[in-house]
Amino acid sequence: MPKEHTGLSLDGQGKPLWLSLEMTYRCPLKCSWCNNPLDFEDYAARELNTEEWKGVLRDGRELGALQLGFTGGEPLMRDDLEELVAYADGIGYYTNLITSGIGLTEERLLALKAAGLKQIQLSLQATKSEVTDALVGARAHALKLDAARLIKQHGFPMVLNMPVFKQNIGMIGEMVEWAAGLGIEYIEFANIQYYNWALLNRDELMPTLEQLREAERVVNEWRAKLGKAMTIYFVIPDYYEGRPKACMNGWGAIHLTVAPDGVAMPCQEARAIPGLEFQSVREKPLSWLWHESDLFRKYRGLDWLPEPCSSCSEKEKDFGGCRCQAFLLTGDAGNTDPACSRSPHHHLVQEAVAVAVKPIRFRKPLVKRSAQAVETAFMEG
Ligand code: FES
Repeated sequence: MPKEHTGLSLDGQGKPLWLSLEMTYRCPLKCSWCNNPLDFEDYAARELNTEEWKGVLRDGRELGALQLGFTGGEPLMRDDLEELVAYADGIGYYTNLITSGIGLTEERLLALKAAGLKQIQLSLQATKSEVTDALVGARAHALKLDAARLIKQHGFPMVLNMPVFKQNIGMIGEMVEWAAGLGIEYIEFANIQYYNWALLNRDELMPTLEQLREAERVVNEWRAKLGKAMTIYFVIPDYYEGRPKACMNGWGAIHLTVAPDGVAMPCQEARAIPGLEFQSVREKPLSWLWHESDLFRKYRGLDWLPEPCSSCSEKEKDFGGCRCQAFLLTGDAGNTDPACSRSPHHHLVQEAVAVAVKPIRFRKPLVKRSAQAVETAFMEG
């Protein structure tokens, strides 16, 4: 008999309210903080085709999904993006495109608008082309600015997303100023999370607490100045706060990610955890994967929590933190997230933070996302 689904106050009553389609891991950029798997190239030949993605969309709606993110890799690498947006819109999703902006021509933007796309999240890493281009490993800055202007010009609600790390954190004020000039209403400064490529580069990327506090001060100044004209999202990351994040609002609570090969996961990083069985929508119905699979039930709810979480008054707020971070740092995804100051493994986070304060000139160059780069990194490693 399947185990009773443990209900959480935030779990959308058992529905995967947020569906993320990782349409492809292909991408023209080489970001050193990418959260795609290190072996991303192996997935290109196994991507779901258009009809298979439509099946995922139908099944997701039947499960109660409403918010839909087209993401990747770069979803614009897929020629069927417009067709899938139109299909999703037709069956009642609120559709979001999460993009680097590379490949977003006016023609495609108009086609996406006609297809019913509701919102676009565009990433931009810096205000200067030499910095953006060096960080993403391509001549991308000018293309990204063009994309931002086009998105605004065609009246899309837009979120500007700036992934934040040591190399660009000092540009937060300039970024707000630039975004305000363009009339962008929502900007998210996303302190990067250390999985996959970002974990490989963690010592080089992690900002210091001093840098983060200064960034917070700058953000607060701009919030006061701009008032309701712009919403600015910025929070001090978990590794400096001593409190774990409520990752995904709890494992298998409201988030459902489908990877390019159709594997359904509670989060984009879950495949980093060994010993779990990952199954594709090609093998099993999405409904079974969500409700019944061991993968989704393994850390769902609160019953599985170890100490000190199980007797902690915060457990309904943070659910013991992030399973992937717990595995990557402690070797066991069932441990309390070491970002928590009460975790017996908290020293691992403190040690990583101690490395972050070393002067940047003594560091290794960033490993850029590419098959060759990861081989080199492991050979040196
Ligand atoms: Fe996988 Fe947090 S990223 S649970």
